[in-house]
Amino acid sequence: MSFSSFSFPTPTLFGAGALAELPQRMKRLGLNRPLIVTDPGLVNTGAFQALTQVLGPEGQGKHWFAYSGVHPNPIEQDVRDAAQCFSQNSCDGVIAIGGGSPLDAGKAARLLVKRPGFDFTKFYDEPDWSGLAPFIAIPTTAGTGSEVGRSSVITLDATRRKAVLFHPEMLAKLVILDPELTVGLPPKLTAATGADALTHCIESFTCPQFHPMCDGIALEGIRLIVEALPRAYARGDDLEARGHMLVAAAMGAVAFQKDLGVVHSLAHPLSTVCGMHHGLANALCLVASMKFCAQRKPGIYRRVGIACGLEVMQCSASEADQQTITFIADFLTRIGLNTRLSDHGVKREQLDALVAQAVDDPCHKTNVVPVTAEDFRKLYLEVL
Ligand SMILES: [Fe+2]
Repeated sequence: MSFSSFSFPTPTLFGAGALAELPQRMKRLGLNRPLIVTDPGLVNTGAFQALTQVLGPEGQGKHWFAYSGVHPNPIEQDVRDAAQCFSQNSCDGVIAIGGGSPLDAGKAARLLVKRPGFDFTKFYDEPDWSGLAPFIAIPTTAGTGSEVGRSSVITLDATRRKAVLFHPEMLAKLVILDPELTVGLPPKLTAATGADALTHCIESFTCPQFHPMCDGIALEGIRLIVEALPRAYARGDDLEARGHMLVAAAMGAVAFQKDLGVVHSLAHPLSTVCGMHHGLANALCLVASMKFCAQRKPGIYRRVGIACGLEVMQCSASEADQQTITFIADFLTRIGLNTRLSDHGVKREQLDALVAQAVDDPCHKTNVVPVTAEDFRKLYLEVL
C-alpha cells in the first residue's frame, strides 16, 4: 500500500457581500500595505471598484497599490513586474483579484519578493519557500479554483511553455468567495470558466490515485455545477447560482490535488500554441476525451452520471458511460460550448506542435488510462 497525502487548509469566507469583511481580516493577518494584482480588463469593473471601496480611497496616505498588467495566460514578466511594484512600494502582502491569471501571477510574485532575480526554471531546486508575504485571493470567475491551489501556472521565458510552480507555502491565507463580484461576468466567460471547473471535477474523480476525500468533493462539485451553471449562464445576477459556481470551482481545485488527466494535457497546448481560453479549450476536448477513456475503462463515468442526476446505477458499464457522456455533451451545448477547434482559429498545420506539447504535459500521466502521441493526434483531429 502506498502513502497518500490529504490537505484542505484554506480559510474561506463565502457569501454575498463577504468582501466587506476584508479590512478586519487584513488586520488579523498584519497586512497594512497590500499590492493588488489584477489584469487590465478588471480595473474598470464593478468588482475592482468594490474592492477599492472596501480598502478606502487612494491618495491621503495611500495604503494600497495596484499592478494591473497580468496577461490572459500569465507570463514570467507579469510576475517580475508585480514583484517589482511590491518592493518599490514597500508592500507587505498581496491581494489578487480576478480570474485564474491574476491569482496565479499574484501568488507567484511573492516568490520573487523573497528571492529577487530568481530563475524559475530552478524552482524545484529551491528548498526553502517559507516566509512568503501573505496572500489573499478574491476570484471574480468560477473556474480555475486557483484561489485554493498551491500552484501557479506561468509561461516561462526560457521554455515558452507553461510551467507549474508548486509549493504548499504558496497557499492563500484567506479566500473570499463573494458571488456579487461575479455577476458582471458575461455568459460566454461564465460558460467557459464553469466548464473548466466541471473538467477539474470529472478528471480528478476519475484519476486513479487513492483519495476518497477528493472523490467526494469532486462528485458534489459536479452536482452543483450541473444545477447552477446553466442558471448563471442564463441570468448573470442569480446570486445563488453564482455562489454555488464559486464554491464548486474551489471544490474542483481542491479535488485536483489528486491530479488531472488527458483533457488538461490537450487543453494546455491549445492555450500556449493557439492562445485559446483555458476553459474553452477544456470544454471542446472534454467529450472526445471521455469517449476515449470510457472505451478503455468501461464504467468509469457511472458515478459521474449519478452526480449529474442520471439513473445509471443498474445500467451496464458501457450504457452508464454512454448516458453520462451524452448528458455532458448536451450540457455543454446548452451553454454554447459545442463548437470545434477550427471555429476558434486552430489550424491543421499546428497539429504537430500541439501533439508534441500534449505528450510533454504532465497531466495525462495521471489519466485513468495511458495516452500515446498517436492518441493525442486522433483526439485533436476528432475535435478540429
Ligand atoms: Fe483547468
